[in-house]
Amino acid sequence: MTKFLLSVHVLAVILAVGPVTVAASMFAPTTRRALAGAEVEINHEPAILGTLHRICRVYAYLGILVPIFGALTALSLGVLTDTWLIISIGLTAAAAAVLVLLVLPGQQKILADLTGTTPTLIRRLGMDTGIFNILWVVVTVLMIVRPGSTTGA
Ligand code: HEM
Repeated sequence: MTKFLLSVHVLAVILAVGPVTVAASMFAPTTRRALAGAEVEINHEPAILGTLHRICRVYAYLGILVPIFGALTALSLGVLTDTWLIISIGLTAAAAAVLVLLVLPGQQKILADLTGTTPTLIRRLGMDTGIFNILWVVVTVLMIVRPGSTTGA
């Protein structure tokens, strides 16, 4: 059973967190290109921005499976109160908050008024997205290294 729960947990990480990380990272550079090419007749960038935002939003919902199956795996392994896991849960919550409260609204703001987008707004979104990405990297390493854990390697 634990193997099944862990498999769903890791699959959800790959299928949900992966696409959000890539799409979110492409958003700020695509915004810069969209603005640079504003006077070009055929400019696909604004449509691409809409798609990138949709990927981030839809896959963020799918990402809810990550903590659900992570918690079920932890319960099954009896490690729910381990320090490495509690820290991971906190960092996962922080990453989700950065995504929902900063990254997605930042993208929406740009989409709502693309031509009025300031370089400050793009830089801000780039920074928030960077923080979001770093949090995933730290959680993934914690999940694999599991400092202090006595279960497995
Ligand atoms: C509430 C959040 C989470 C909980 C409760 C949780 C829980 C767990 C548990 C209990 C394991 C099994 C560890 C073991 O075999 O001893 C695990 C493995 C794993 N988790 Fe999470 N997790 C969470 C979030 C995340 C996130 C956000 C990521 C990545 C972005 C992630 C990536 C992984 C990976 C890659 C493994 C496999 C590690 C391995 O077997 O070497 N987890 N998780």
